Formats: sequence, C-alpha cells, structure tokens
Amino acid sequence: MSEQITFTIDGIEIKGKAGQTIIEAADEAGIYIPRLCYHPELAPHGSCRVCTVLVNGKPQSACTQPIAEGITVENNTKELDEHRRNLIDMLFIEGNHFCMFCEKSGNCELQAVAYRLGILAPKYPYFFPKKDVDSTHPDIFLDLNRCILCGRCVSASRDIDGKGVFEFVGRSIEKKIAVNAEASLKDTNLKQADKAADVCPVGTINKKRTAFAIPIGKRLYDSKPIGSDIESRRK
Ligand code: SF4
Ligand code: FES
Repeated sequence: MSEQITFTIDGIEIKGKAGQTIIEAADEAGIYIPRLCYHPELAPHGSCRVCTVLVNGKPQSACTQPIAEGITVENNTKELDEHRRNLIDMLFIEGNHFCMFCEKSGNCELQAVAYRLGILAPKYPYFFPKKDVDSTHPDIFLDLNRCILCGRCVSASRDIDGKGVFEFVGRSIEKKIAVNAEASLKDTNLKQADKAADVCPVGTINKKRTAFAIPIGKRLYDSKPIGSDIESRRK
C-alpha cells in the first residue's frame, strides 16, 4: 500500500498518496484547480502556469509539484484567480480565437476556463497574428490560429503514439507547433485514431467529418462549468 500524505488545500484536509502531484491529489479529493496544459494521461508539461497555487506561500505549478506531508496549499484566492485571468487573457490576444465560429466552442477548455474565471472579453488589444492553416490531411485539419502551445499533442504523439508527429519550433512570439514533415500534415503518419488527434484542448487539431456531431448548446461545457466533474467527487 502506498504511503499516505496529509496536507491542506484552502484549509481542507486532503489525504493523498506518495508520488502524487498536487493536482492529482486535488482531483481525487474533488477540488478543482484551474489548468490548461495538464492532461491526466500525459506527462505534465508545466508550461501554461494556469494551475499555479501557493505552497507554503510560494508559487508552484500544481501539475508538477509533488505533495508532501503537512504542506499548506492555497488555490482559491482572488490573487491567484487574477494571475490566471492575466495568463488566459494573453492566450486569447496572442492567437486568433473566434469562438463564435469555432467548431470546438462548448468543448473548448480555453473558453471554458475563461468563463469559469469570469472573463467575458480580454482587457488587452488583440495582436491578430498571421497563423497557418493546414487542411492537406484527408482526415485531420490543423488550425494554428487557435493553438495555445500547451504541448499535449507533442507528448501524446511522442509518448503514446510513438510517432513524434508534432514538435515546437521557433522561440518567444514566433514559437509554434510544426509537423515532422517537410511539406504538410498529409506527409506525416498521423491517423484520426491517434492519441495526438484527441488531446488538443482547443480547436487546433480537428477530425474531419465530425464537426457539429454534438450540436451547440449540448456540448460538454454548455450546461456545466469546467471542473464540475471533479467537484462532484467531493465527499
Ligand atoms: S495543437 Fe492543440 S494540443 Fe498541440 S500545442 Fe497547440 S493547443 Fe496544444
Ligand atoms: S496545467 Fe500546470 S502548468 Fe499548465
């Protein structure tokens, strides 16, 4: 049996298991910590920083920080939510997120986290960057306008599919997702059934001929806020 570790999140006593991260223990205990790049089936990437919590007063990303006996974690504070809103605001203005026309609307984690944190419109001016669209693949459509550089597709393709179809190229504002083929997505061995085609939190990696299978209004986050599935585990 694994060693039990007791600690608190916002004053609530949590019993986790040795080796768990804060987000894993919080999820099991029914406490939602906002996140974007984290995916439970992938190695944590720690890139978006939306899951930042205070551990004994110091900022840490909950998806990478292991739990430890007696630590005090703060998650639900005005300051942390303001920090999260700033990060999410930046993601909206650095890309081109036209939610009203996006097939992912209602299933999009970026949109859902923004709503959960009370963002209705970004407070900074939009960059309107020029981004690529790749529709060459027979079964998958790639729209980099919506990419938030979470890295999930990179990890899933490398670690689960064993293909390495996606990678990051460039730095800073030029950083983007690229495919491991000289020309385009059609020249890769990406398949619709691959994990990499399933993990995108936004509408960048889309499966062709599946759009609007679930109508707007009946999608995952249309009636319940993101995180409510986790909170429903709370005893
Ligand atoms: S394409 Fe999707 S999964 Fe890949 S980095 Fe961009 S947002 Fe993340
Ligand atoms: S969810 Fe932890 S850094 Fe992105």
